[in-house]
Amino acid sequence: MEKIFVKTPMKTYPIVFEEDFLALADMVIQQNLSGRKMCILADKNTAELYGQSVLSQLEKVASAVYFYDFPAGEMFKNLESIYHFYRFFQENHFDRKTVIFALGGGVCGDMAGFAAATYLRGIPFVQIPTTLLSQVDSSVGGKTGVDFNGTKNSIGAFYQPEFVYINTKTLETLPEREFAAGMAEVIKYGCILSNAFFTFLKEKKEDIKNMNHSVLCEMIRQCCLFKADVVSKDEKESGLREILNFGHTIGHGIETKMDFQLLHGECVALGMLAVLELGRNRKDVTKQQLEEVKNLLQYFKLPLFVKYNSVKAIYEQLFLDKKVKENKIGFVLPKGIGEVYTTSNVQKQEILNAIEFVVKA
Ligand code: GLY
Repeated sequence: MEKIFVKTPMKTYPIVFEEDFLALADMVIQQNLSGRKMCILADKNTAELYGQSVLSQLEKVASAVYFYDFPAGEMFKNLESIYHFYRFFQENHFDRKTVIFALGGGVCGDMAGFAAATYLRGIPFVQIPTTLLSQVDSSVGGKTGVDFNGTKNSIGAFYQPEFVYINTKTLETLPEREFAAGMAEVIKYGCILSNAFFTFLKEKKEDIKNMNHSVLCEMIRQCCLFKADVVSKDEKESGLREILNFGHTIGHGIETKMDFQLLHGECVALGMLAVLELGRNRKDVTKQQLEEVKNLLQYFKLPLFVKYNSVKAIYEQLFLDKKVKENKIGFVLPKGIGEVYTTSNVQKQEILNAIEFVVKA
């Protein structure tokens, strides 16, 4: 598949689509990164599955290859993990030419990117996303960071990778639940940007669930095109990029209050349903449109509601979100399917009703 280029003031870089890791060494050469120290950062699960394949590619083009693995899961996405990365970097005398390779899902990419952004004030890094969610969203666009003190992604930096290497075959080893979580971000693109893409997802849902490779590739590539376009227009989220946070405000609130028992994508699914209900109450979304999104989420076995005993606690958590400005919560709200608008002009009762739609005692 043809490369896609992400063009930002910070950097222009390619997203490449492959069906194995065999083109990785060539990509390193093409991007003028060969002959350097290289370090693979991977969570333990991914390290076991793909560590050796990536390592053997990098050995062809590096002066030395290092490998650091760490426990998988959102609960390890914190400054303590970053501290251990820095220690490893320093002990091995990494310098400003050393290249970091983030091999794994969103947690790995966000943390490796943040360590690369801050170690020695910035060293190069490459994203090798191996989950659906990271391939369609988090590996593209330079958001890096960690959770802090019960708040999602609240410490971080915008820092773009040298390139993104997507091996679509890695999805074949992805647990079903992780795949579904990625589908929430895929469906998000339909909701915010394209009714036609939403229709494509509805029509191809069986092929997607059956892991039809060409349909999956078409879907992933289209998501990367959407993301690259938005990020190229607004790298640092001063306007347009905010739309990518559709479903994330309430989603992050649920994710944090439930101590990360649910996956990020599952919480995005809940957050999207909540704001669709808010939109329905505003008469911007019809009941049928809400049902269509709900049915598609349900088809991929995403949760439609969650059991939690305090709507108020989730409401209060929203005020700790990054998008709060002068004590007003920023929302991305739907206008039908395929269009959204941003506003902080949302009444408390509207928000409570929206949370109640997906959070049941
Ligand atoms: N995941 C949302 C963004 O990258 O802006």
